Amino acid sequence: MSILFNAYPLARPALFAMDAETAHEVTLAGLQRAYDCGTTRRWLHDQPQWPVTLMGLSLRNPVGLAAGLDKNGAHIDALGNLGFGFVEVGTVTPRAQPGNPKPRMFRLPKANALINRLGFNNQGLDAFLANVTRSQFRQQGGVLGLNIGKNADTPIERAADDYLIGLAGVYPHADYVTVNISSPNTQNLRALQGGDELSQLLAALRDKRNELAQLHQRQVPLAVKIAPDLTPEQIDIIADTLLAHGVDGVIATNTTLSRDAVQGMAHAQEAGGLSGAPVHELSLAVIERLRQRVGQALAIIGVGGILSGQQAREKIAAGADAVQLYTGLIYRGPALVGECVATLRNTASR
Ligand SMILES: Cc1cc2nc3c(=O)[nH]c(=O)nc-3n(C[C@H](O)[C@H](O)[C@H](O)COP(=O)(O)O)c2cc1C
Repeated sequence: MSILFNAYPLARPALFAMDAETAHEVTLAGLQRAYDCGTTRRWLHDQPQWPVTLMGLSLRNPVGLAAGLDKNGAHIDALGNLGFGFVEVGTVTPRAQPGNPKPRMFRLPKANALINRLGFNNQGLDAFLANVTRSQFRQQGGVLGLNIGKNADTPIERAADDYLIGLAGVYPHADYVTVNISSPNTQNLRALQGGDELSQLLAALRDKRNELAQLHQRQVPLAVKIAPDLTPEQIDIIADTLLAHGVDGVIATNTTLSRDAVQGMAHAQEAGGLSGAPVHELSLAVIERLRQRVGQALAIIGVGGILSGQQAREKIAAGADAVQLYTGLIYRGPALVGECVATLRNTASR
């Protein structure tokens, strides 16, 4: 298994020679084929584990896949098999939409970073649910997060309608649901992070969740995903609003609009969200502030620029209960998952 697992550095130059979005599709298709053939099925059994509890859910380890890598939930089992304790798929919108024109994903290798302006390209809720219900990941002990958003052509004043449709659709199939209000690539979406807007949205979601909990006889935890581009005061208001509305967790953070760390590099001026190494410190600051404000009342999932086990450890030290990976996988390959789990486990047992 380790030969295949460690083969990523060899494949990387060929992948990096392709357009970033094409490389993404080729990699996912290859991973799926390897999983379908059965050649990779044993990977999971060989991965290090370290059980933890998050939002009342039992995870086999605290290292998750961040949203956006599998927007349609089409590769849940193959991705879960890489050793993640939890996998988050989406963002799904109620109706299918194409996203922004291509090219819309760019690598900045010198900074171990990416810029994307995909714009929630996805096949819509029905196709997403068909994929999710086919997957075996949950039955095999994995924890599945389903991430919901709004369509680009839904006016921002009607955003809650889309989130309510999303919540009702995904609720019976999710271990937790993430409300994504922090993508920079859907016009005005981040305005939903403002105190009044957030309060209104969360009040509507809370009522809907109560209804769904009755209907399905199960309380599904709700997490809200926030941006790294917030002032400490804004973070405090968000934290208070989440607590006031009974939200269970916060995912910190999404991509950044800042270009400070990549100035002068090729593609640095492309519009979109910057992910990878430059986000690590930004998200650490958000996690620290959140933890100070909420104590133990909210679960915090730390995400942004984890490229090593050490950086996963720093997220936990800042106050996160679990971590998620995305851009680090593109630069480091799947071996990063086990490295993070092993580092966290070793730290905890010291
Ligand atoms: C290409 C790409 C697409 C993304 N799409 C989504 C998305 O649909 N929903 C979401 O909540 N986050 C999305 N994200 C944000 C990631 O989940 C993550 O929060 C962010 O990239 C920071 O983590 P990283 O530095 O490890 O990539 C996307 C990120 C990238 C790079």
